[in-house]
Amino acid sequence: MKPQDFQSYGLLAQDISEILYTTETIQQRVFELGSAISRDYENKNPLLVGVLKGVVFFMADLLRAINIPVEVDFIAVSSYSPESREQGLVRMVKDLEIPIAGRHIIFVEDVIDTGLTLNYILRNLQARQPASLQVCTLFDKPDHRLIDLDIKYKGFDLPGYFVVGYGLDFKEKYRNLPFVGVLKADVFKPGSRGI
Ligand code: PRP
Repeated sequence: MKPQDFQSYGLLAQDISEILYTTETIQQRVFELGSAISRDYENKNPLLVGVLKGVVFFMADLLRAINIPVEVDFIAVSSYSPESREQGLVRMVKDLEIPIAGRHIIFVEDVIDTGLTLNYILRNLQARQPASLQVCTLFDKPDHRLIDLDIKYKGFDLPGYFVVGYGLDFKEKYRNLPFVGVLKADVFKPGSRGI
């Protein structure tokens, strides 16, 4: 990304101290993940399942990087409270529309942090008896993991500090940045200006 492109994000860009992964780097890695999935799932008509909302950016690009027949569906989950989220208690507020029994499922995430959300969703999906179930995440925060999970396809590791862009939000903003950047501390600190 050229400097003037970064600047064209105006209000959003001024809150970013540093670009961690450029648009080009992300697109190249998404292409590699799509190629690997195309190879591994030839003649298997996989169903990609995403959990809203952050994944929609990665999902849209990943689907276009896959060159075999593929389908997509989404679920949405919600936490009962911040405390229950910490215990891995989430509830499904939008279910799949496509039945997955006997299907080859790739569960797609934008980011895996503690792993609690993924653990809940994988158990839920596994109970529906798919033919296979694998995980593809663009970003991973391994330092935050509370549960050991098997991830077949992974894009990049992220540091522990706050980053936004390409689906990752702060208070629902910054998802539309095409790169991943570090949010300036004065934006997210309690009592800060925010955007
Ligand atoms: C993110 C991400 C995962 C979850 C991972 O979603 O998409 O679903 O957090 O966190 P965990 O590993 O600690 O459970 P978020 O709740 O931020 O919702 P969003 O996709 O709408 O931003």
